[in-house]
Amino acid sequence: MDNESVIQVSNLTKIYRDFWGRKKVRALNSLSLEVKKGEIFGLLGPNGSGKTTTLKLLLGLLFPSEGEINVLGQPATNVEKNERIGYLPEESYLYRFLNAEETLDFYGRLFKMSAKERRERSAELIEKVGLGHAKRRQLKEYSKGMTRRIGLAQALINNPDLVMLDEPTSGLDPLGTDDMKRMILELKEQGKTVLMCSHLLADVQDVCDRIAILYGGELKVMGRVDDLLKEQEETQILTSRLSEEAIKEIEQVVAKHNGKVDSVDHPTATLESLFLKTVQESKARPGQRFVPESEEKKAAE
Ligand SMILES: Nc1ncnc2c1ncn2[C@@H]1O[C@H](COP(=O)(O)OP(=O)(O)OP(=O)(O)O)[C@@H](O)[C@H]1O
Ligand SMILES: [Mg+2]
Repeated sequence: MDNESVIQVSNLTKIYRDFWGRKKVRALNSLSLEVKKGEIFGLLGPNGSGKTTTLKLLLGLLFPSEGEINVLGQPATNVEKNERIGYLPEESYLYRFLNAEETLDFYGRLFKMSAKERRERSAELIEKVGLGHAKRRQLKEYSKGMTRRIGLAQALINNPDLVMLDEPTSGLDPLGTDDMKRMILELKEQGKTVLMCSHLLADVQDVCDRIAILYGGELKVMGRVDDLLKEQEETQILTSRLSEEAIKEIEQVVAKHNGKVDSVDHPTATLESLFLKTVQESKARPGQRFVPESEEKKAAE
């Protein structure tokens, strides 16, 4: 069914209380949102804006102070629904003394998968997240990015319908970030619904269909990414490098049409695209290195 609602939150408020039950922090204030089947939905906001709190409430790990939550047709407090949910927490809680294979086997058992299923699924996921070379290494020896990758594999072990990812790209290098984005898009292609949190707009811009921006526990903006990022009142023209005269002439033409040139600059490639290109080229042509001009001259003498 299209347009099926996977997550429905209405007027959700969460007030954390201290040990004596006194109100301490209003982490969420009357939040309402809906996520549809097959969507990639991004929850954005600065540190402490209530993103992780929202995910924990959806999983039933926390109880709301007010409001209603429905996930996969069930109230959030019904933990049975969690069998159809995959969750990547912001901090790893995996056992440090298990290796990747053992970790996935352990979680497969929790979901009552057969030995054969667990073996096949683990092998498939380990390859998918790019940990084939390190699958027998204990997790305590993993780097931050590798820990994030095994975390994703763990979240997908039960082939969930809804995947919740808390800061999936944190600690990943630009290549790892690229891999993660690709894997998130693949989940969408498989018809899954993804809810991810981040405070890095660039990371979610490419993958999310819709986003919500939280600030201080309140929803500030929500909408389709392409609508939100469209600047309808501007026109951008990109040309080859032009002379001062040409720019003056263009300004006159724009003025004739009642417009105004706000800025003229020469665009540069982003550091991220340069980094990616460099790494990809290095992979394709190993051994090639950058030689500074001064070094080249010396060699010629
Ligand atoms: N267990 C807790 N007890 C008391 N206050 C808490 C608790 N967990 C979170 N908070 C408070 O709730 C607010 C929202 O926290 P939350 O972890 O949801 O933010 P976040 O948007 O995920 O931030 P970040 O980007 O840093 O991960 C913060 O003010 C935080 O201090
Ligand atoms: Mg958080």
